Amino acid sequence: MKYDTMRWRKDALELLDQRLLPRETRYVKCFTEREVSKAIKNMTVRGAPAIGIAGAYGAYLGIRGIRTKNNIEFDRKLDNVIKYLAGARPTARNLFWALERIKRVAEKNKGKTVDKIKSIMLDEAHAILREDINICREIGRHGAALIKKNSNVLTHCNAGALATGGYGTALGVIFSAKKKIKMVYADETRPVLQGARLTVWELIKNNVPATLICDNMAASLMAKDKIDAIIVGADRIAANGDTANKIGTYSLAVNAKYHKVPFYVAAPFSTFDLAIKNGREIPIEERSPEEVKSVGGQMLTVASVNVVNPAFDVTPAKLITAIITERGVIRRPNTASVRRILSM
Ligand code: MRU
Repeated sequence: MKYDTMRWRKDALELLDQRLLPRETRYVKCFTEREVSKAIKNMTVRGAPAIGIAGAYGAYLGIRGIRTKNNIEFDRKLDNVIKYLAGARPTARNLFWALERIKRVAEKNKGKTVDKIKSIMLDEAHAILREDINICREIGRHGAALIKKNSNVLTHCNAGALATGGYGTALGVIFSAKKKIKMVYADETRPVLQGARLTVWELIKNNVPATLICDNMAASLMAKDKIDAIIVGADRIAANGDTANKIGTYSLAVNAKYHKVPFYVAAPFSTFDLAIKNGREIPIEERSPEEVKSVGGQMLTVASVNVVNPAFDVTPAKLITAIITERGVIRRPNTASVRRILSM
């Protein structure tokens, strides 16, 4: 990729500020867990795997200044930092997965000095970032096999390098299948416009043919046989394959079923939440009404109007043709097929 979603430089986590793209490429430095949490909340960094990785670095930043040599006090502080970071956004499983992984590595090294545990935690955050890029490449490889020659593919929101450690999940499939793809239609993805601002930027930067559409145009393109496949990412996948992803994904899946267009979800294992039986149990983030009422700071409507702004919706597994993971493809996802591939 020609850009880093995030990088560790000397003593800080640097995040590519996704609020400014595509106008400006600027990195924000985070020196504390508070700065990381704020960056996750205000979507400087966004996308399920990316906020997980940022959270892992945030956990390290939260404990690196702790002076104590007492392991019990250290554990208590680490617990508080992890709880605090887990409160940044509620839907993406990857944030909790990464924080649990950081906590586990600290617990496993309990007998060591506090300074040693700190450095092990930083190494673990680096490992999560590195592994995520490789996982995305594997998802891309498995997914590319599903794409037919000369395909027009539609995607929603941004599940690219910007939403991950690098490369992307849904866009990872598109990058890997680039030679077989005639056109990628990108939904603009209101209210925050991740499709128009981020996906289009990534596709053009990587020389993939891109066409931007408003969200309400997707069904009519399907009706005209202009779409051969739909690929989206995921924020949390329940044990039965029900999938939470950016608001608007569900209506795309309903339309895809009606028009017999294959509907693929691309996601790493860290997005699955086997403790949750089905999609009804996935917590859905409700964001500020201002995101719906305005675009780029410009008020679009009557300022006092009532607004709902759920950031995600749930697509039932029965509308999903297949879930593409780093270990292979789960066709017709259900509790048994999900369990089978996850226990491989
Ligand atoms: O609110 P966002 O921009 O964080 O939502 C992101 C999405 O819904 C993505 O599709 C999802 O996180 C998958 S990213 C590989």
